[in-house]
Amino acid sequence: MTKVTSNRRGVQVEDTKICVVMVGLPARGKSYIAQKAQRYLQWLSIEARTFNVGNYRRNDAPQPNAEFFAANNPDGERMRKAAAEAAVADMMGWFRTGGVIGILDATNSTKTRRRWVEDILTREGIETLYVESKCDDEDLIMANIRDVKTTSPDYRGQDPEKAAQDFRNRIRNYEKVYQSVDADGDEGDLTYLKLMDVGKQVIINRIKDYLQSRVVYYLMNLHIRPRSVWLSRHGESTYNLDGRIGGDSLLSPRGEMYAKKLPELVAKSVGDGRPLTVWTSTLRRTIATARHLPATYNQLQWKALDELDSGVCDGYTYQGIKDKYPEDFAARDEDKYNYRYRGGESYRDVVIRLEPIIMELERSEDILIVTHQAVLRCIYAYFMKKDQAKSPWMNVPLHTLIKLTPRAYGTDEERFEANIPAVSTWRGKGSTAKHEDPIPDVLR
Ligand code: ATP
Ligand code: F6P
Repeated sequence: MTKVTSNRRGVQVEDTKICVVMVGLPARGKSYIAQKAQRYLQWLSIEARTFNVGNYRRNDAPQPNAEFFAANNPDGERMRKAAAEAAVADMMGWFRTGGVIGILDATNSTKTRRRWVEDILTREGIETLYVESKCDDEDLIMANIRDVKTTSPDYRGQDPEKAAQDFRNRIRNYEKVYQSVDADGDEGDLTYLKLMDVGKQVIINRIKDYLQSRVVYYLMNLHIRPRSVWLSRHGESTYNLDGRIGGDSLLSPRGEMYAKKLPELVAKSVGDGRPLTVWTSTLRRTIATARHLPATYNQLQWKALDELDSGVCDGYTYQGIKDKYPEDFAARDEDKYNYRYRGGESYRDVVIRLEPIIMELERSEDILIVTHQAVLRCIYAYFMKKDQAKSPWMNVPLHTLIKLTPRAYGTDEERFEANIPAVSTWRGKGSTAKHEDPIPDVLR
């Protein structure tokens, strides 16, 4: 049974354990989907881990050719089964030590293999969610092969063109035995999500609970069209100058200069002049920062992008907080991610309220977000897989535009500095300095 509770750490789903079993022919984006799901869940502090059967298989067969994957190759068959067994055994061990969502990343392309996995999971009370990626677009598949397969450890040191041909033959061997989930109508009891042509069409069957539906909804929103996300803090504010937190202050004269420079900085980083959609918070300093951007850019204000609510400490300097609430000041330094201001929020709370923003970002193309220090840290942590305990300490300088470009297995980052001086609002552990220079190991 699933129990959903809300406590000071936010919403938690207890008791449910799910194995997401990926299904599909090679080069259909299964590993891509698995790593995105893992990153999203870990960002939400849900214990999630991917078990990639290919990595286990490489122990015995590091560089197999297409023949290894032929259905009539008994040695290949044996080694592939052994790799699946080792991955599943490790995953079950991980579930026993508190894992919540395990992702079994393999082709799982036959009914027999799926029943075998299902039986093991059911015996241990773990729910199974099959996620199948189907795609017959030959150009996209060849692009996927060239993009990620020819550089895989399976083909290290080999000619990329020969590697691509061999990989195409490997797929042909899988095609001979591949059975799409419930294609014959005898797997209707399974819980599954089928993504056809990168989510153009979606089939959902027997989703059981809240956690499953969250994973399904997230995966339905993914796309692979090229795009970037731009992140900027607002220009320097009068509160920043005073070393005060929170509030709804306006921009300092240097903050105004940044607002005027932002359109040029954006144009330089976009390159081809395509229009962006701009999201700001509802606070005056972000709206003022975005106000000189071209009128052709759609602008939207999100309450969810407002700065972390510092409750009774709003408007205080860090020294003021230490004087008035010394225990709170120490508690925040002790566990900055979980510390919730009296009457306000923690970083963990901010992550939870940002979930709709992340969903919308996944669905969208080019977006520029003008927001605040804490919120930007949380969004950055999602894209760059930053440890939640460390992300609240990250330095995010004012007057700097960050461009993030998602790639197949990671995110590229570029920074564009406006070269307009601003105070540093970064604060090291224990410090109450009004403005402090960050130490080198937290520059990112
Ligand atoms: P294998 O079975 O060899 O491990 P795979 O199915 O795990 O293959 P990936 O390694 O994830 O394939 O392939 C990554 C490529 O797939 C990326 O280039 C990515 O853009 C693309 N991709 C992501 N999602 C999809 C999708 N739903 N359909 C087709 N391609 C996708
Ligand atoms: O100082 C600027 C600011 O955006 C404050 O409004 C906010 O409380 C603070 O940064 C968040 O940063 P930290 O979590 O490091 O205190």
